[in-house]
This record gives sequence, C-alpha cells and structure tokens, in this order.
Amino acid sequence: TAPAPRDLLEIAVTVARDAAATAYRMRAEGVSVAATKSTVTDVVTAADRAVERQVLDALRQLRPDDAVLGEEYGAGDTPAVAGGVRWIVDPIDGTVNYLYGLPYCAVSLAAEVDGEVVAGVVRNVATGEEWTATAGGGAWRDGARLRCSTETDLGQALVATGFGYDPGRRAHQARVVAHLIPHVRDIRRLGAAALDLCLAAEGRVDAYYEKGLAAWDQAAGALVAAEAGLRVAGLRGLPAGPDLVVAAPPALFGPLHDRLVDLDASGGP
Ligand code: IPD
Repeated sequence: TAPAPRDLLEIAVTVARDAAATAYRMRAEGVSVAATKSTVTDVVTAADRAVERQVLDALRQLRPDDAVLGEEYGAGDTPAVAGGVRWIVDPIDGTVNYLYGLPYCAVSLAAEVDGEVVAGVVRNVATGEEWTATAGGGAWRDGARLRCSTETDLGQALVATGFGYDPGRRAHQARVVAHLIPHVRDIRRLGAAALDLCLAAEGRVDAYYEKGLAAWDQAAGALVAAEAGLRVAGLRGLPAGPDLVVAAPPALFGPLHDRLVDLDASGGP
C-alpha cells in the first residue's frame, strides 16, 4: 500500500528543495537555450534537464519502486504500478522566465496514488517561497494555512491565465483574453502555471484558467488550489485537463465558467 500523503509530501519537499537549489545555482552561472521542443519559442535549458535528472535520481534512491512522469524525460523506465505511487515533475515551470532571469519560475513535484494527486509542492526557484498541500490536509505556504479569495463579482476579479506555444493556439487564446478583459478587473500572464495556481490559493489573484496544460504544469498547483478552497475543473462538468483548467473560488466559478464557454476557451487548436 502507498504511504500516507504527509509522508509523500515530506519526500517531495526534500527533493524539490534540492532541485530548486540546483536550478538557482545554474541560473547564477548563466543559462542558454539547449534545445527547442514543439516550436522555436518552446525552449529547454541545460538546467531543465539537469534538475529533472536530479529529481529522478533522488526519487529512485528514496522510492525505487515508484513510477515517474517528467516534462523532459517522460515516463523513463519506471512503468506505473496499480496501487503504486507516480511522481509528476516539472523541473522548471516558467522556463522562459528562468531564461530571462525573471523571478517567477518553480520546481513542481506531485505524488499521485491510483490516478489521484495526494501530495504536492511548488517551490519558487528565485524567491524560495514554497507552497504545499496534501489531499484533505489543506494548502500551506511557509507554515501558513491558505484560503482562496472571497471575491464574488467577476467584474472585480483579477484573473491569471497563460498561453501555449503553438501559434494557432496562441491566437485563439489571445482572442479569448480580448473578449474576457472587459468583464474582469484585469488579466495577468505571469508565465508559470504552477505558480499561478499557488497565487490563486492565497488570493494574490482571484482566479486562473488556461487551455493546453500538461500534467506536470498543474498537478501540484491544482492540489494546492483545491485545498485552499478553489473549485478546480474543466468546462461543462469535465474534470480539469488539457482542454481547460479553471480554478476559481466557488462564487466566481460559475460566472467565469459561463464566460469561458461563451468564448469557446477550450476550443481552437
Ligand atoms: C509553461 C508555463 C506557462 C504556461 C504554459 C506552460 P514551461 O510551462 O507554465 O505559464 O502558460 O502553458 O507550458 O514550458 O515553462 O514548463
């Protein structure tokens, strides 16, 4: 049987702290683009790879039988086992910010048991802020319990979002933003989905949505958001997923959801 969520979180925090320290050090030494992925602006740095390798090695030592899913190396050679633990790692979420030295990028590490994320940590590489959550155990930042915004009026809500790398998708996402912005306080595009979800968890933005996220972008952050009281889901009753992740306080979820349906936010390329 899988360990308790708090035991998995303890491992996640230890591994994520070391990983963030490596990312920080490599940034100070200077980073450049090592490769591109889906498009010329979807970049990988040497640090993305080194940090994920470090996380995989640490997990293999601590939890040799667990499966992993990582942004850079995929599932590696550790297949998922029924009833077992799967770790989901984004070595550097906000790679473009990392490349430019903007202090909004994070290591994200989540533990999933039977397909359900039960523990997660997001650590800002630049500032050292750290958000954690366990299923049913609440969301925390640096020892303080988190609660989402109590805003009830979409017109007063600060809404974060992000854009994918595919040009067609970006064009569609920009059209959605153009039509949403008159109906909200403002929009933020900060550049790291995991951190956006953590900001929503403490009401530093009121809500967040994005199309096209991968599991590693959102696994840990979505648990932090949900444990802080946000409703995290997709459109039309679907669970949050690649089509759309919407994270909003219960009173804002309906109005934001309906706008996003009208704007076909989960559609397009
Ligand atoms: C990206 C960031 C960005 C979001 C993109 C993600 P990466 O992750 O989270 O904010 O808008 O959808 O792909 O590439 O920096 O790990």
